[in-house]
Amino acid sequence: MAAIIWDRHLATGCDELDEQHRTLIDTFNRLCALAGRGDWNHDEIEGSLIFLRDYTLVHLETEQELMARHGYPLEAEHRRLHSDLVQDLEAIVDGFHRGTKDLTPVTLEYLDQWLQRHIRNEDFRLAEFLRHAEARTRG
Ligand SMILES: [Fe+2]
Ligand SMILES: [Fe+2]
Repeated sequence: MAAIIWDRHLATGCDELDEQHRTLIDTFNRLCALAGRGDWNHDEIEGSLIFLRDYTLVHLETEQELMARHGYPLEAEHRRLHSDLVQDLEAIVDGFHRGTKDLTPVTLEYLDQWLQRHIRNEDFRLAEFLRHAEARTRG
């Protein structure tokens, strides 16, 4: 599984969101590196998975707070996508912890696709809306 390279295609232009996305991507890349090593360290991988889940919760909360504060019209749909991801992440962390689910290339691919697609679509739209909302506030 290849690492995600941060570039302008992933930059929403909203500093707070971009910084959090970079942390998520760094964590994802770390997981890929750990999973790609011959000597799997279960605890190390589990630690990164837990961090990814917990930091995702922090990040999604940041976005949801911004959506609510500025009356984002696509809030319900965006929130639904977030809660689907949280459910999937919980299942991944739980399965890995119990030993019923390995961190497979399919799982990593899913996380990779989710992160990149969601940032480029839903989060870009949100950032664009926030830019206009801020401009309106400034008058
Ligand atoms: Fe995001
Ligand atoms: Fe989002």
